[in-house]
Amino acid sequence: MSKLLNVGVIGVGGISHTHMPGWQDSEHAQVIAGSDINETGLSAWGKQHNITTLSTTVEDLLGNPDIDIIDICTPNMYHTELVIAALEAGKHVICEKPLAPKPDDIRKMIEAKNASGKELMTAQHFRFKGSSQAMKKEIDSGVLGDVYHARGWMLRRNAFIPTPTFIEQKHSGGGACIDIGVHILDLTLWLMGNPKPISVSGTARTELAHKEGQFSKWRMDMDVPDTWDVEEFANAFVRFDNGATMMLEVSWLLHHDTQGEDMQCWLYGTEAGCHWPSTQFLESNLESKQLYNRHLQLTDDAMEAHAFECVEFARALAEGRPSPVPPEQSLDVMQILDGIYRSQEEGREIRLDS
Ligand SMILES: NC(=O)c1ccc[n+]([C@@H]2O[C@H](COP(=O)([O-])OP(=O)(O)OC[C@H]3O[C@@H](n4cnc5c(N)ncnc54)[C@H](O)[C@@H]3O)[C@@H](O)[C@H]2O)c1
Repeated sequence: MSKLLNVGVIGVGGISHTHMPGWQDSEHAQVIAGSDINETGLSAWGKQHNITTLSTTVEDLLGNPDIDIIDICTPNMYHTELVIAALEAGKHVICEKPLAPKPDDIRKMIEAKNASGKELMTAQHFRFKGSSQAMKKEIDSGVLGDVYHARGWMLRRNAFIPTPTFIEQKHSGGGACIDIGVHILDLTLWLMGNPKPISVSGTARTELAHKEGQFSKWRMDMDVPDTWDVEEFANAFVRFDNGATMMLEVSWLLHHDTQGEDMQCWLYGTEAGCHWPSTQFLESNLESKQLYNRHLQLTDDAMEAHAFECVEFARALAEGRPSPVPPEQSLDVMQILDGIYRSQEEGREIRLDS
């Protein structure tokens, strides 16, 4: 077997812990170092995962010739600088979603990736669930015909993380759009075959967050801080260059009937339709005038999706294949989300850059 790829993790907060089982189970990679500006958190993370090469200075990881992959898990607004520095240091990079809240920053990352010859992957873990992988395979076999419309939504009722990482613009770069819109949009576009978005019309609003006594059922110990300056709700209508359209709805706070979150997407094609995550495919036989619904046969996921995405990145690198979630696709996602903000500001449909 070839040498294990060595991984350095930057930003060892909440999400980094979900990557660790993947690196531990990977046949191709292992974590050897971690970095965080918070020394106490870094030391606790090191003890928990048995990692002893720890530094509060990212340059120590970027300059370490033994490290092959940098895994970036910092808040969104620190991704661009770190991704570019890691690529320029000759490392492959996996970076948490969103790659960056601004399309221009993703363009800079793509330039740095192309100049470095290294791979860059966005950690869009929903693609790595068993239901997603099975549906993608089935859709790519052509059963839907031409997909001409899709609907995607990720709606939560009082369910969000009320920390600066998520609710302060200067750290997050946006609210529900950037935090969860990025998930359902990436998944829906990927299942559709990544058509090129050409325009978006949408709204991005904060209607409930600042109400007295507002709360998140995930963090009943915390009040919603006054520093909240991002949107809680967004919707959009998107057109693609192949004539297809999509409708999107996202919210952290909505009077919507759901216990945890309601995340679904529907694809409608000329031959059939399908629904995620149920893996239901809807077909018809017009000769016998019959309508059919069928589900794909799934086995239980062997690994949680945040972990599996790390396994798959290392496998792709070891086998010389490209990034399983290329930044060019994340640029399309972010052009749409950024377009929603511009559409809200300007009150009109926004043409997206080609
Ligand atoms: N895929 C998912 O389901 C999912 C879920 C939650 C968060 N995320 C993403 O993960 C990222 C981090 O979120 P989190 O919940 O782990 O946040 P967090 O606040 O729990 O952790 C962030 C960590 O980064 C550290 N940090 C901040 N700036 C740094 C810098 N410049 N250099 C080094 N370390 C730095 C902080 O000290 C902290 O330990 C965000 O991009 C978020 O969108 C993804």
